[in-house]
Amino acid sequence: MKKVGVLISGRGSNLQALLDAASAGSLGGEIAVVVSNVEGAAGLERARRAGVLALVSDHRGRSREDHDAAVAGLLAGHGVELVCLAGYMRLLSPVFLRAFPGRVLNVHPSLLPAFPGRDAQRQAWEHGVKVSGATVHVVDEGLDAGPIVAQEAVPVLEEDGPDELAARILEAEHRIYPSAVRIMLEGRGRLEGRRLRIEGRT
Ligand code: GRF
Repeated sequence: MKKVGVLISGRGSNLQALLDAASAGSLGGEIAVVVSNVEGAAGLERARRAGVLALVSDHRGRSREDHDAAVAGLLAGHGVELVCLAGYMRLLSPVFLRAFPGRVLNVHPSLLPAFPGRDAQRQAWEHGVKVSGATVHVVDEGLDAGPIVAQEAVPVLEEDGPDELAARILEAEHRIYPSAVRIMLEGRGRLEGRRLRIEGRT
């Protein structure tokens, strides 16, 4: 079984979607370890409830590089091949990305490249777009910028506020993240420039 490591900072609903897919046998691998940079993150409990090793690596008082090297070491030590960011509120340094080249995924609550950065759902709502959505992408050194693995569009309804929109986008995140992980674990994604071509996708 291929091993996945998940990095979180908070609630962990995307982690839950990945845990559920893993236990249903539809992730294409298993979640070997969950690491949070925040002690008390709710997602840690979700991992433990699923019988998955849940660790804390506090970033405070350490350089980004030192912390990233420690987390990368933890993940590698547990045989992790693919790293999933799931509400991990830290930018990764090149030190981390070099340890897992092309093997770090992130889920973002907009149709990238629109609305990168924080509070993407509110940014989209305030801009007045009629369609937003969710994106899973490979992480590179840019902000929410790497090659796209999966996207799902979500309509912005007239009665939506930012919170209603965010809730509907979150449901899309939970659908596309497990299937994007499976694509990567099955080795079906091939990079051509910045396009990720997916074998067997129609
Ligand atoms: C999600 O909206 C994700 O797209 C963003 O942070 C949020 C994390 O939520 N990167 P959760 O912790 O997975 O519930």
